Amino acid sequence: MDPNASSVTFPLLVEELRKVYSVKGKETIALDGLNLNCSHPMILSLLGRNGSGKTTFVKIATGQLLSDSGKLEIFGHNVIESPGEVRNMISLVPQECRPWGHLTPREHIYHYQRILGNTREGARDRTQYISEMLHLEPTLDTEAVNLSGGQRQLIIVGMALSAEAQIYFLDEPTIGLDIITRKNVWNAINEYKRKNRTIILTTHYLDEAAALSDEIAVVNRGKLIAQGKMEELRRMVEYNTRIRTAKGFLGESQKIHGKLFQDNEFEILYTDDSMVEEIILSAGLLKTHVEISPVGLEDVFISLVGESIDEE
Ligand SMILES: Nc1ncnc2c1ncn2[C@@H]1O[C@H](COP(=O)(O)OP(=O)(O)O)[C@@H](O)[C@H]1O
Ligand SMILES: [Mg+2]
Repeated sequence: MDPNASSVTFPLLVEELRKVYSVKGKETIALDGLNLNCSHPMILSLLGRNGSGKTTFVKIATGQLLSDSGKLEIFGHNVIESPGEVRNMISLVPQECRPWGHLTPREHIYHYQRILGNTREGARDRTQYISEMLHLEPTLDTEAVNLSGGQRQLIIVGMALSAEAQIYFLDEPTIGLDIITRKNVWNAINEYKRKNRTIILTTHYLDEAAALSDEIAVVNRGKLIAQGKMEELRRMVEYNTRIRTAKGFLGESQKIHGKLFQDNEFEILYTDDSMVEEIILSAGLLKTHVEISPVGLEDVFISLVGESIDEE
């Protein structure tokens, strides 16, 4: 046992984690006092815009990168001071990782199991288990060079899930996978949760986060800005309705009824359902020009990390 391990053994505890990259004298603050916790086994999704520090966090948590300051404990073990204690508890799908071209999915998983110390028979069984779970059979013996991008990504997911860990860090595991394959991965993730494992998932697919997560953490500019169950996050949006139009239809007289966000093509006004008629009338819009819907996870995300017109 690690003598420094604290008595409360959360799967994951992160306090004031800080990391600044310095490249040729230019400093980038990747983590700016990140706080995060997982008090019991769960699926926790990390959402954040590109560059918000998610991968940096995953790298620190999995011992690939040192932080500048702050605390990061896995089951009460300090990741930096006791990497040996932590190593067997974690598994990882790194962002942007490629398999070896001349090995097949079967060989990847089998040899990875052998490297982790499994017996030949154990490694064969585990490969079979993963192959069935992720439906790898049709391509199990095809060299990776001859597989599609998504099929290669699935090898990396299969390797990570083949490890018997307590906590799985999955950094955009389903990137590039078709919807059916993604759902196979979701089933696997749920299966691991049923076995009391913790999954830390980063994803840009909000439907994925909504479907899988027990809790969602929203990270922006290296800081946690919200963590909670889906319903708790939904309540953080002040309004209950979104009105979406092509850019240029809404303006000053509609903005007063809510909060307006724009991207290159669209604008979205968050407002209250009671105001919808008035807004549409005052903007001179036909109902066919607008899309009106209740707020969902995408809206939570936009209103937490997007820049509203007022703030620009
Ligand atoms: N190796 C690196 N050297 C310098 N800057 C980096 C490096 N890796 C990431 N960054 C910067 O740190 C910030 C956070 O990046 P990252 O953790 O990859 O974000 P995310 O995974 O949320 O997209 C970004 O501004 C990125 O440009
Ligand atoms: Mg990333």
